[in-house]
Amino acid sequence: MLHPVILSGGSGSRLWPLSRQNLPKQFLALVGDLSLFQETIRRAEALPDVQLPVTVCSEDHRFMVGEQLQAIGVGNGGILLEPIARNTAPAIALAAQHLIAKDPDATMLVLPADHLIEDEAAFREAIVRAASLAEQGWLVTFGIQPDYAETGYGYILRGEALEGGYRIERFVEKPDQATAERYLAEGSYAWNSGMFLFKAQRYLDELSRHAPAMLDAVRNAYADAEADLDFIRVGKQAFAESPNDSIDYAVMEKTERAAVVPVSCGWSDIGSWSSLWSVAERDADGNLYDGDVISIDTRDSLVHASARRMIATIGVEELIIVDTPDATLVARKDRVQDVKAIVDKLKAAG
Ligand code: GDD
Ligand code: MG
Repeated sequence: MLHPVILSGGSGSRLWPLSRQNLPKQFLALVGDLSLFQETIRRAEALPDVQLPVTVCSEDHRFMVGEQLQAIGVGNGGILLEPIARNTAPAIALAAQHLIAKDPDATMLVLPADHLIEDEAAFREAIVRAASLAEQGWLVTFGIQPDYAETGYGYILRGEALEGGYRIERFVEKPDQATAERYLAEGSYAWNSGMFLFKAQRYLDELSRHAPAMLDAVRNAYADAEADLDFIRVGKQAFAESPNDSIDYAVMEKTERAAVVPVSCGWSDIGSWSSLWSVAERDADGNLYDGDVISIDTRDSLVHASARRMIATIGVEELIIVDTPDATLVARKDRVQDVKAIVDKLKAAG
């Protein structure tokens, strides 16, 4: 049985000031009418022979998740609440424990809550191929053809051909700039999309080999879990003992049983203001406007006005302007990765 698992615990700090700690980007309708989280749920629900989605998120976002699920009328396979963020490897392990308790043979499809996919038919076709590889014990990733040297992604070197995909020869998470450029030039690497498909038990087996302390902590946390309606609140003390690590570093770089299914489905990760600008529909001058914006000679910019104020621009290009009631961001489009540094400064300032 295929169980979608939606990872919704990120803080989305590079989309500040719209994305905030109490309302991170995955819960915002950044493109279209539904939030990125709701789009992800809807996309998962449309897969063939699929079970109800399980969401893993922060305790702080439980009502938002509950309300957003209810708003689109999708049944709920459970909402696992993390008392503290420990990154994706333990979050996925919690979901694996939860699924195995009901279905020892569960297959899980791990989906980040903040991605866009344009071609859902191609996405579905890739899932079907991945599911048959997972049946044979592979931990399956989805490989995207890279088009620039992004350092925020994982890189996958394909090895021998398998039915429907390839064995992974090497997996490198977030290489430095020079390495990413080399991989791009070599032409034989794919980006890791951040979606995964594998048997839940298989994933736990890999943790027992490569991250046993994490597996112990997650097992104890799940053993201490308390159910509260749809919410499953895991043991705080035990979960806090888990090392903080992503699946990419903790498992994918180390395992010998990884496979990649190449997919071309109009995938994008809405990681920053420039990536939102690049996937959205823009006007003839390359601008993306939201709210009350008036402009003269403005090009290739994103301007988001809040409900209370109009924004006017003259003779500017490649700018990001995002106004909210209590904070305004003005940044050059090629500097948007540094928005995270602003958020870190704000946090440090308390
Ligand atoms: N529940 C939960 N708990 N979810 C989390 C946590 C956590 O502690 N941390 C992150 N997430 C969620 C995020 O909300 C996001 O949906 C997903 O897990 C991935 O986390 P990111 O923090 O966005 O990872 P990344 O973008 O740096 O890297 C991953 O995705 C890239 C593609 O977008 C990696 O898998 C890369 O290899 C990959 O290229
Ligand atoms: Mg991401």
